[in-house]
Formats: sequence, structure tokens, C-alpha cells
Amino acid sequence: MKKVKIAPSILSADFSKMGEEVRSLEENGADVIHCDVMDGVFVNNITFGIKMVEDLRKITTLPLDCHLMIVHPEKYVERCAKAGADYITVHWEACKDNLKEVLELIRSTGVKCGAVINPDTPVSAIKDVIPLCDMVLVMSVFPGFGGQKFIENAYDKLREIREIISATGKEIELEIDGGVCAENVARVKAAGADVIVAGSAVFKAADRHAAIEELRNK
Ligand code: DX5
Ligand code: ZN
Repeated sequence: MKKVKIAPSILSADFSKMGEEVRSLEENGADVIHCDVMDGVFVNNITFGIKMVEDLRKITTLPLDCHLMIVHPEKYVERCAKAGADYITVHWEACKDNLKEVLELIRSTGVKCGAVINPDTPVSAIKDVIPLCDMVLVMSVFPGFGGQKFIENAYDKLREIREIISATGKEIELEIDGGVCAENVARVKAAGADVIVAGSAVFKAADRHAAIEELRNK
């Protein structure tokens, strides 16, 4: 079976004890910590910013995957990198014609860069920049909130992007984010995803270790 990474999203954590939450994810087998940065403008929700990334960096050795759901992400790339991000992903919908430059800016800081598309954005929007990415992120919900239902058009997009990635011959990770759970994770992996974001599926589980292992092994 192909090895996948499980990236719990701390959007579903208890923000009043974030340090303990991240330690618990680490102890329970998470591979990556997915950090959902939201500004209340690009999406209708506000979470946290660079300071959270900086403080989490001090308490975990796991890679920090910063999913920027903000307008003008280029303004925050350097600070986010300095704060200790391992991946920074930016939306095509926030960057449009500047996406290539923003990805190059991320790369210039030494952090892995990724392009993200919303459920209503076709793969063709990012096709040309995929070879420049370390990661591509397919949203299977409209960003803003955890606990939403998986939107099924993501399977075809994953397959399409996986083919493009294979043609590049490069090792580019393919991440899926939104509504992933034990019931659909096998199909998500079969479609080509190798980094699985999971918010509610991990945080609502009574046993986080079992939930993470189920997502990994199904
Ligand atoms: C949505 C976020 C996701 C979200 C995933 O805007 O980008 O990372 O937290 O949560 P679930 O797995 O509950 O859909
Ligand atoms: Zn996310």
C-alpha cells in the first residue's frame, strides 16, 4: 500500500489549550500539523496567524503545513517562513495571475510551496504551475469551516492532478482537505492523494490514535 501522511487540522482543536492538542496529535501518530490561517476576508471565518505558527514551532518537531486562506498571502510569506512553517500553501483564488510569483517567493524562503484550488476552480487554472510546486492541495469543501461534507468532484481533480504530477517526474505531494473521513479515505487515496487533512474525523474521535491509524490504513 502507498504510504500516506495524515495531517490533522488544528482548526478543530480546542484553541484554549493548543499546545496540549498539538502534543496529543504528535503522540497519537500525526505526520504533519495542518494550520488553517483565516483572515475573515478571503473566507468568512477568523482563526489565527503567524504568532501561532511561531509558538507551535517551539513545541513540536512535526512539519507545520500552513494553509493560508487570506487575501494578499504574499505579504505574510516571509514572516510565516521565519516563524517556522515547513509548507506554505496559497490559493489560486487569492493570487490568480500572481500565483507563480508567490510560489517562487515561498520557495526562495526555503519553505515547501503549494498551490490550492477551491471546489469550483478547475485543475486547468493551476496546470502550468504544478511543476513548480512541492505540493498541490485540492479543497473538497469550500474553505472556512471544519465539519463540512466532502464534495465529490474532488476525486476527478485528484486523478487529473496525479497524472500531471506523474508526467513531471517530480516528487510533488498531493493533499486533500475537507470532509475526509474513514468512509471516503480509501477512495481519496485511490484517486491519488498522499497527504490527508482531517479535522473533525480526528478531533471528534474518542480515540485519536485509532482515528489516525484508520485514516492511514484504510
Ligand atoms: C477548511 C479547512 C480544513 C478543515 C478540515 O477551510 O481548510 O482544513 O479544517 O476540517 P474537516 O476535516 O472537518 O473537514
Ligand atoms: Zn486547511
